[in-house]
Amino acid sequence: MSRDPFRVLAIPGSLRSGSLNRRLLETVAELAPQDVEIVLYDGLGGLPHFDADLDTRPGPEAVEDLRARMFAADGVLIATPEYNSSIPGVLKNALDWASRPLGTGALAGRPVAVAGVSPSAFGAVWAAAEARKVLAASGARVVETELGIKKADTLLGDDDRFDEVTVAAVLVLVDELREVAAAAAAEAEAEAALA
Ligand SMILES: Cc1cc2nc3c(=O)[nH]c(=O)nc-3n(C[C@H](O)[C@H](O)[C@H](O)COP(=O)(O)O)c2cc1C
Repeated sequence: MSRDPFRVLAIPGSLRSGSLNRRLLETVAELAPQDVEIVLYDGLGGLPHFDADLDTRPGPEAVEDLRARMFAADGVLIATPEYNSSIPGVLKNALDWASRPLGTGALAGRPVAVAGVSPSAFGAVWAAAEARKVLAASGARVVETELGIKKADTLLGDDDRFDEVTVAAVLVLVDELREVAAAAAAEAEAEAALA
């Protein structure tokens, strides 16, 4: 009997058509092992600006779609560029929506991994740190490894795919996501047994 694949919602923090962050997640989705299903989220640009007046149940359609995708995923993988030493506003906006209601929102208790991806020599590490801070404040279970992919524009091959070493580094993050998800499931089981 085959097991269900580990389902990952992959969110690129850039809207740009030639985004290195999106291309990396696409490459990882193409090359992921069979027991991992990576689905790209392409809806950042369609989310309304966060407005507490719109934060109702149900909320705006695009927000409910993001929430449903997160709830259906076993883990979330974010690849973010650095904008002015932080994360792009569109990504922060999505994380703010997914953080509500605080404590029971789509990010609460959810395993999340972050990679910073940049053409610079620094690998968007400040953006990744910022994303991790926002995620932790939202109650997500953030994986420990901090991954910064430097000079990302030089890592694309003629086939427009990222190189094997970079893909392998991201797949390590996915493995960690799986471990965090398994630990969370074991915790929930233990709590249920005590109840
Ligand atoms: C508004 C803006 C601010 C940026 N700020 C930084 C920065 O602080 N540090 C950095 O390394 N790169 C910075 N960059 C460069 C981006 O990281 C780079 O364009 C990256 O490729 C964008 O990601 P993408 O290829 O996925 O769209 C900035 C780009 C823009 C548009």
